[in-house]
Amino acid sequence: MRFSVAATAPVRTAADLLVVPVLQVRDQPDLGPLWEAADGRLRSLRDAVKGAAFLAKAESLLGLPVPGTKAGWVLLVGLGPREKIGLESLRRAAAAAAREARRLKAARVAVAVPAEGAVAFDDAAFARCWAEGSGMALSPVGVMKTGPRNDKQPDRITLLADEGRARELKRGLAEAEANLAGCLFARDLVNLPPNVLTPVELANRARRMARAEGFRCTVLGPAQMAKLKMGGILGVGQGSANPPRLIVLEKRARSGARAPKVALVGKGITFDTGGISLKPSAGMELMKTDMGGAAAVLGAALVASRLRLDVNLTVVVPTAENMPDGRAGRPSDIITMASGKTVEVLNTDAEGRLILADALWYAGRRKPDVIIDAATLTGACAVALGSCFAGMMGNSAQVMDALTQAGGETHERVWPLPLVDEHKEEVEGTWSDLKNLGRGREGGALSAAAFLAHFVGDDTAWAHLDIAGTAWTDGPTPTCPRGATGFGARLIARALEILAD
Ligand code: BES
Ligand code: MN
Ligand code: ZN
Repeated sequence: MRFSVAATAPVRTAADLLVVPVLQVRDQPDLGPLWEAADGRLRSLRDAVKGAAFLAKAESLLGLPVPGTKAGWVLLVGLGPREKIGLESLRRAAAAAAREARRLKAARVAVAVPAEGAVAFDDAAFARCWAEGSGMALSPVGVMKTGPRNDKQPDRITLLADEGRARELKRGLAEAEANLAGCLFARDLVNLPPNVLTPVELANRARRMARAEGFRCTVLGPAQMAKLKMGGILGVGQGSANPPRLIVLEKRARSGARAPKVALVGKGITFDTGGISLKPSAGMELMKTDMGGAAAVLGAALVASRLRLDVNLTVVVPTAENMPDGRAGRPSDIITMASGKTVEVLNTDAEGRLILADALWYAGRRKPDVIIDAATLTGACAVALGSCFAGMMGNSAQVMDALTQAGGETHERVWPLPLVDEHKEEVEGTWSDLKNLGRGREGGALSAAAFLAHFVGDDTAWAHLDIAGTAWTDGPTPTCPRGATGFGARLIARALEILAD
C-alpha cells in the first residue's frame, strides 16, 4: 500500500472512494467537512445523511453513492467527540475505513483530512496514525493459502489537504511507513509456521533485512557458540534436528560515540514443545509464537533504521527449537552458561530464560548504556495482565519511563511489575549457582525476570518486556486482522527515539 499527499479538491480527485472523517458535536455529526469536501456540489447528500441516522460515533461508517464526482462514492467515518479522540482512535477509524474500502474493492482511496485544529493533534500525528491504522488493519493473513486471491486490497491512500499542510502530512506518512514496515515484518515472522521458520530460516530473514537496511549481520552456529561456552542456547537447542543460531545485527550511529549505545535482545524459540518437560497438546500450536520477542526487536531495528534514529544499535537474537528427544536436555541437568554461571535446569519448559541469559551476556560484553529485551517468557505474565498490557521489569526508571510513554503513543501498552533482590534470591540454586525455576507457580513472571537480572551488569540500564500475552490475538482487533500482533516493534523503536533525544 502506498501513501501520498495531494491538494486537489476532493470531488475532483481521481479515486474509487472518498473518505471523509466526521467529528461528533453534541451527539450529532459535524457535517461541515463533508460540505466542504463536496465543494457545494453534493448538497443533495444532506437528506440522505440525515435519513441514515449516522451519528459519527467512533468507527461508525456510512457509505453513499455520489454521482457526478470522480470517486462516485463517499464514505463517512465517525471519529466520535473531539475530546475523546486519541492517537489510537484515529488509527481505529482509519482501520475501519480501510476495511470498508477493501470490501468495496476500492483500489484508490482519497481521504479529506480534517480542517486544521479540528482534532487535537498536529497534521504529522494525524497522517501517521491514519496510515498506520490503514496498513495494520489490512496486514496480510493466510500467505500460505494457494489459489486465486479474492481480497483485493486498496493500493493507494491519498491524504487531501491544502498545499501548506503537505510537509507535515508527508512527515507523518514517512513515520508511518517506517512503523508499518517494522510491525508487519514482525507479524509475518510470527505468523509463519515453525516448519518453515526454523532458527536457520529466522537467521536468513534477519540477514536479508539487515543487508537491505545497512546493518552488519553476524550469525553464530553451534561450533562458534560452543567456543563462547553458550550452554544455555546449546542446551535448549540440543534436542532439535534444527540447530540453534545466535543472530547479531549492528549499526553505528551517525554521530558516532556520542550517541547512546543500545542493545536489543529478543527470545527466538521457533517452537516450544516444552522439551522433556513436555507441554500438554491442547493449545501447543500457539507455541509457534515463541519467537515473538525476536520478531519485536528485529522489527524495532527495521523501524529505527527507516527513521534514521541516532543510536548505536546492536540486536542480539538467540534462536532455537525446544524439542523432546533422546539427545534433549533433562530436568536436573546442570549447564554452564557463557557468563560462567552454572544453572540447574529443573524444568526444560523454562527455556526462554536460558537462551536469553547467554544473549544478555553477549550483549553486555559490548558495554551498552541500555539493554531492552522482549520475550514471550511466561504464561504467568499473560495470566496476570491479559492481552492488553505487556509486563515490564528492570533496573532503570529512565528506560521504563521511556517505554511507558512510548507504549501510550503506539498503543502497545506496558505495565510495571516488581523485581527486587528477594526475587533474585529465589532463583539461586542448591547444586548450582542458579536454577531455572522460582518457588512454585506464584509470581512466575517475576522469577523469570529475576533470573535474567543475574546476567545483566548492575551498571547497565535494563528493561525486560514479557510479551507472552500480547504477541498474538485469536480474534481480530480493530488494527489487527488476527494472529500475530507485531507487539513491540513500534513500541521499542519509539522508546529508542525518546531515549536518544
Ligand atoms: N513460551 C512459554 C511461555 C508462553 C506461554 C508464551 C503462553 C506464550 C503464551 C515459556 O517458555 C514457558 O513455557 N514458560 C513456562 C515457565 C514455567 C515452566 C516456569 C510457563 O509459563 O508455564
Ligand atoms: Mn517453555
Ligand atoms: Zn517458551
